[in-house]
Amino acid sequence: MATYLSGIQPSGLPHLGNYFGAIRQHIELPTRGGEHFYFIADYHALTTSRDPAELRSRVREIAVTYIAMGLDTERAALFRQSDVPEVCELTWLLSTVTGMGLLERAVSYRDKVEKGIAPTVGLFLYPGLMASDILAYDANYVPVGADQKQHVEIARDMAAGFNAVYGETFVLPEFVASSTPKVPGLDGEKMSKSYGNTIWMFESGKALKKVVGRVLTDSRAPEEPKDPAGVLLLDLLRLFLSEQEQQDWEQRVRAGGVGAPGYGHLKQRLVEVIEERFAPARKRREELLADPAEVDRVLERGAQRARARAVATRDRALRNCGLR
Ligand code: ADP
Ligand code: TRP
Repeated sequence: MATYLSGIQPSGLPHLGNYFGAIRQHIELPTRGGEHFYFIADYHALTTSRDPAELRSRVREIAVTYIAMGLDTERAALFRQSDVPEVCELTWLLSTVTGMGLLERAVSYRDKVEKGIAPTVGLFLYPGLMASDILAYDANYVPVGADQKQHVEIARDMAAGFNAVYGETFVLPEFVASSTPKVPGLDGEKMSKSYGNTIWMFESGKALKKVVGRVLTDSRAPEEPKDPAGVLLLDLLRLFLSEQEQQDWEQRVRAGGVGAPGYGHLKQRLVEVIEERFAPARKRREELLADPAEVDRVLERGAQRARARAVATRDRALRNCGLR
């Protein structure tokens, strides 16, 4: 049976890019069979977080988001990365057979340092910890956004390196591309917490109107015929609309003339569809935040299942390299 695994960092409120690029797949995949492990990468978050209270609340927010959106936590283990400390042990074992060059080639390290994140040893070793996350559960498939592809390749190389020295120990994982690799943000660049151009999945009411109001437009009048490909609002709407409704808006934008929709109309529709799509989950989120014990139970159960796997892998690795 194939094993799927993915992690998401608790580095802020989950936005539409996280949802369409990652979380949605994580929720859909378990309905098609296989084994599934999804975790909140709190060890990784320490490379950028310095505020314990904020980190704690963000971890909860991610857990609540997955449960509220309907992840089947019977089929998929949902857990906190730090509830499986064996991944840190595996990081060390793997690091002893990994050349510096492999991690030096990681673009995310350079990107993050360029953005002003402290160049700590932890940040440098980030892909090593991620490799351990993947290898600890014998994952075959890792569904993540395109920005994480190189990390999955590094995990594969580290696994192959260890296997070459000590014999078959780790399963070689494969990257699974998201069907929505790049959701644009308010400014048309990739939506990302670090660009401050995000729309939180559960934003609503006045705050939602306000943030959608910031989606980049130009000064062309509604009557002016436009190429739909150049209208950012349509790119965002497309994530939500039926094929039929998409075509309808596009055709009206392309035709222009009297009665053609202006950017205001598109913004209004975008607010509606975001409100609608996430309405049930928004309510469920409130309930879950008010009942922390239920979320704790889900996370504990997930951690137990995940840990059993990771302990078996850790033991195998220790044995193979001569520490047992
Ligand atoms: P951010 O860029 O906001 O910090 P993360 O790096 O925490 O987001 O991403 C978590 C997951 O969401 C990853 O699998 C990533 O590939 C995916 N993701 C993030 N932003 C987008 C986006 N704009 N479009 C598609 N997927 C995205
Ligand atoms: N680095 C991933 C991100 O920023 C999060 C992550 C940590 C992860 N460990 C993982 C993803 C293992 C997949 C598998 O999005």
